[in-house]
Amino acid sequence: MNRSSDLLAPGRALIASYLDAGSVAHSERVAVTAGRLARRFGVNEADAELAGLLHDYARDTSGEVLVEMADEAGIPVSPFEREHSHLLHARMGAVLVRRDLPGVGESVLSAIEVHTVGALPMSDLDRVVYLADMIEPARDYPGVEQLRRACEAGPLAECFRLGYGRSVRYVLDRGLPLHPISTAVGAAIERETGRALFDPAAVA
Ligand SMILES: [Fe+2]
Ligand SMILES: [Fe+2]
Repeated sequence: MNRSSDLLAPGRALIASYLDAGSVAHSERVAVTAGRLARRFGVNEADAELAGLLHDYARDTSGEVLVEMADEAGIPVSPFEREHSHLLHARMGAVLVRRDLPGVGESVLSAIEVHTVGALPMSDLDRVVYLADMIEPARDYPGVEQLRRACEAGPLAECFRLGYGRSVRYVLDRGLPLHPISTAVGAAIERETGRALFDPAAVA
């Protein structure tokens, strides 16, 4: 047992008191999926489950309130985040989890913090939680089955390339503005995998 295993039960109680039933169910599915991916990719399973369980802790808080909370706490909010304040649920989720569930490890808090747009660099745990959020069993979008198969077969870097590329493509196809960090994360993925972000899957 590490500390994350001990925190799963209090984490469950916490999200049950803070999130609506739909978000709780999504969080539980992400926890299970993250645990499975963690086993596959040699990441600490309890850390992945806990991060999956808590990743959307601030998801039901409005963007406006999240900006207010960040401003009050002196946490810098970029112009892009002010305009797309729902994205702050990841960064503020990590802040709130740190406050409300003492003892959660830094690696788990990081996975919560970067689960929307990624970061530079990203740990294997960060990537596992990012992918679990994308492929949990209730997710239904074009390409999700391909990504699920890749996550059962491919190396983590390739799975993350597919998943992140899919997220970027989704934003671009809708004519939405891309988060400033996404270009840099995409470039890092291309360097690591030696493949273009939007290349078809090398596996699955
Ligand atoms: Fe989220
Ligand atoms: Fe989520």
